[in-house]
Amino acid sequence: MAVNEPEMLAAIAASSTLEELEKLRVAYVGRNGLVTQQLKAVGKLPADQRAAAGQAANAMRARVDQTLAEREVVLRAEEVSKELAVPVDVTAPGLTPKLGHRHPVTMVLDDLVDLFWQMGYQVVEGPEVETEWYNFEALLVGKDHPARDTQDTFYLEEAHLPRTHTSAVQIRHMEKHRDNLPIRIVVPGKVYRNEDEDPRHSWTFYQLEGLVVDENIGLSDLKGTLETMVRGVLGDATELRLRPNYFPYTEPSVEMDATCANCHGSGRVENETCRLCYGTGWLELGGAGMVHPQVLQNVGIDSDKYSGFAFGFGPERIATIKYGVGDVREFWRPNFKFLEQF
Ligand code: DAH
Repeated sequence: MAVNEPEMLAAIAASSTLEELEKLRVAYVGRNGLVTQQLKAVGKLPADQRAAAGQAANAMRARVDQTLAEREVVLRAEEVSKELAVPVDVTAPGLTPKLGHRHPVTMVLDDLVDLFWQMGYQVVEGPEVETEWYNFEALLVGKDHPARDTQDTFYLEEAHLPRTHTSAVQIRHMEKHRDNLPIRIVVPGKVYRNEDEDPRHSWTFYQLEGLVVDENIGLSDLKGTLETMVRGVLGDATELRLRPNYFPYTEPSVEMDATCANCHGSGRVENETCRLCYGTGWLELGGAGMVHPQVLQNVGIDSDKYSGFAFGFGPERIATIKYGVGDVREFWRPNFKFLEQF
């Protein structure tokens, strides 16, 4: 079939849209295009004509390709200027960027810190990598003390470890401020333990530690403070219960419970055993007690003149109670479906 090159080049130059140009590209240099067929035909010519015909066909193909490419550049530029010529509607609704919010545990921690701040407490922080001295020994948990088993963790080099509780900051703060009493602090922070994870335990979690040291501090001060705290975060109807317990660094030591936010202490919801407190009516929040006189002496505070109380508990536990979350591990997962509910 005869191929009319000037006609092809003219058609390309006359094309006015990119689609039109694409159709021409297929018709000329596509798999069955005119130019392609011409090239294929070269092989069927007598041997002495092939070289010249091949050269001519290839040269034509190159010219057609180039003309196509040049036209494409022009048409693309025209298309862009057409798009730019459309006026922008500045009144059209914009794209709202996705806004985040505080993590539920941060919200609970912030509420707690606010409450204590109103009661005149200072907010103090300490290092997450501790020495064994501050984390254990200064708190009367010796190397072979069985209390270390319940706070097993990941040891680092040279007697350092990720802290297992925020109680270490009690010691650091008392050392620095023993000549500047009274002390009234809360310490929010992350702690680490070698835990078997389950719905109530994760290996990283937050704690809020509290410490008060002054003259004439008694257990009733501790109880009043904790009561104010649980009512502040869980509502005025919440009751506090203190049970005897043991911590090496407090004497006496107590465990603090709050009435269950789900069954309000009755242990039953719609005639079924309450699933949040397993029917006990109480939820365990953390530990507390009167600072052991030996701990005060260890940091150079006169334990005949001064006494104190301390407490430590997990804001995740309060968040599970407050928001009815069944599994504390949810707080540590990057699960937006979960987090966006708060
Ligand atoms: N450190 C304890 C824990 O992590 C909690 C605790 C108990 C803190 C008694 C205290 C305290 O300050 O006096 O389980």
